[in-house]
Amino acid sequence: MIDYKLIDKYPTPMYVFDINKLKDRIDYLKSKLINCNIVYAVKANTFIPKEIENDIDRFEICSPGEFDICNRLKINHDKMVISGVYKDEVTIDNMMKNYEIGKYTIESLEQFKLLEKLSKKYKKKIHVLVRLTSHNQFGVTEEEVKYIIKHCKNIIIDGIEYFSGTQKTSLKKVEKEVLYIKEFVSSIEDEFNIEIKEIEYGPGLPVHYFQDEEFNEDEFLSEVNRLLDTLKDKKLLLEIGRGIAASCGYYITKIVDMKTNKNGNYVIVDGGINHLVYYGQTMAMRIPHYDLYPQRTSEIKTYNIYGSLCTINDIIVKNISSSELKLGDKFIFKNVGAYSSTEGISLFLSRNLPSVLLFKDNKFIVVRNNINTSDINYPNY
Ligand SMILES: Cc1ncc(COP(=O)(O)O)c(C=O)c1O
Repeated sequence: MIDYKLIDKYPTPMYVFDINKLKDRIDYLKSKLINCNIVYAVKANTFIPKEIENDIDRFEICSPGEFDICNRLKINHDKMVISGVYKDEVTIDNMMKNYEIGKYTIESLEQFKLLEKLSKKYKKKIHVLVRLTSHNQFGVTEEEVKYIIKHCKNIIIDGIEYFSGTQKTSLKKVEKEVLYIKEFVSSIEDEFNIEIKEIEYGPGLPVHYFQDEEFNEDEFLSEVNRLLDTLKDKKLLLEIGRGIAASCGYYITKIVDMKTNKNGNYVIVDGGINHLVYYGQTMAMRIPHYDLYPQRTSEIKTYNIYGSLCTINDIIVKNISSSELKLGDKFIFKNVGAYSSTEGISLFLSRNLPSVLLFKDNKFIVVRNNINTSDINYPNY
């Protein structure tokens, strides 16, 4: 648990990722999703991979930038799955030439040709997962999976990858997908007399961000675990981003101005929607989990919390009831460990990027200072 008093030393806005909480979260997921290997989708939060290297089985890496981050963090290459809808030849050539990467995914026939060509060039028998499409721009069709199985020469197909979307609250959907994967895998095993050893499945585990939600996660995960039993004769890997990273993250922003007019009480904070994204938020009507520091016991008032962008859309939350707020008070928004720090419109208005701190063994470690974005938005004639 973060000691909010200690935060005062650091400038706002900032993100804090609590590493002990993150590790507890992974332990919890492992205790519920038994017999599953855990793959962390790096896109959810690029600041934490090194901290969890020994707690998870693989890292799903989707871009040259994510690879660069993991490489510089000295993540074991054998633990990497190089995924992504666009794999450029220069990047993949460099990976294959210089590293022993655990696995690559194939998301198209072009990627198939590229991986075949490069594995031949470097005389490396690379291991791949073929991503089966859920009928969007990702992955290949069933017929294309079969084509790849028939025509592969230099690559070794270890398994099938399937991911259809994030924040999946419907167990029916998970059940349908698991059955679909099971049936498809059985059919290709029969047709080609091969063994598909692994299934890497993204269940899109949901995170409940808002105070008005009731969710029994224990029951939900037990049910997911029961559904996954269908695939138990394979090595099963779960690709998870949000469900791993969200709960460890805090976004801390300070009240910098306050005003009242006939429409209500307006509180301006030094952060905003450029840094804080809650999946499922609608017009700032839903109240996320947050704490205030310091906390007071005084008359309850209603406030609207606005960020510091020049747009009326920069509303973080409307109509919260709170004891009296004062300039300098801090909002500590919770569950922002996944996607929030990269999904916001962070270059808008040339405001600084927040600093990033890890909270580990009761200490803060600054892993990124505040970054000035006027350099990025400056026309450098
Ligand atoms: C292929 C793939 N796997 C896994 C994930 C992680 O999804 P989530 O954050 O819902 O767990 C994503 C997210 O976009 C993805 O594209």
